[in-house]
Amino acid sequence: MEAIQNITLKVWRQDGPADGGRFENYNVPEISDEASFLEMLDVLNERLINEGKEAIVFDHDCREGICGTCSLMINGQAHGPARMTATCQLHMRKFASNDTIVVEPWRASAFPILKDLMVDRSAFDRIIEVGGFITAPTGGAPDANLIPIPKPVADAAMDAAECIGCGACVAACPNGAANLFTSAKIAHLNMLPQGQAERFARTEAMVEKMDEHFGSCTNHGECEAACPKGISLDFIALMNQDYRKSKFKNRKSLSRT
Ligand code: FES
Repeated sequence: MEAIQNITLKVWRQDGPADGGRFENYNVPEISDEASFLEMLDVLNERLINEGKEAIVFDHDCREGICGTCSLMINGQAHGPARMTATCQLHMRKFASNDTIVVEPWRASAFPILKDLMVDRSAFDRIIEVGGFITAPTGGAPDANLIPIPKPVADAAMDAAECIGCGACVAACPNGAANLFTSAKIAHLNMLPQGQAERFARTEAMVEKMDEHFGSCTNHGECEAACPKGISLDFIALMNQDYRKSKFKNRKSLSRT
């Protein structure tokens, strides 16, 4: 039989970027154990709207752990208490009845709060813009098996490509660093033959754009623990290695032109 819970929520409300913000308390009675965390917020929002109050603003899209837009700090943990689980896939059975749950937006200076629980993550877009692409010939798509790629390499590249760009790594990092995100986005291209043409230009540009917006990595490892896709810290090591090489290789190729 499905269990029913009574929950108290302490939610961060902020009218806009310039507002100071504050916590507001809400009771959410009789919520099913099987409801997802976002469904529970939907139920609360419906009630607020019916009462003529303003709904709580929060980001979401796919609700399947794919798009990376859901982004809540739940009881101080990015995406809440379940490992490798995005907020949209978190269920109320992870909490006990009569729990008080604190819900906040990502806290990072690179992600300014737009309203309530919604932040501006366009700093990630700035990083992708400078290198998150490959040179591809025009014309018909080549056969998939035309370029042999060893399976371990393909698997590792696909592991990196699992990054959904949610920003939990930045929110969890005491320095607000984006090294896990940036390294995953670099690695999934740099590891494959198709990514070689821009490999070192990409690495240098993306790392330096990252440094303009985010803090520095000091190996806390909180990012890996908070990542809903289990992106490995190893990708940061690979990024650092390629960044070092890029400082030599990019100067060398410039001097030839
Ligand atoms: S809403 Fe798309 S990953 Fe959560």
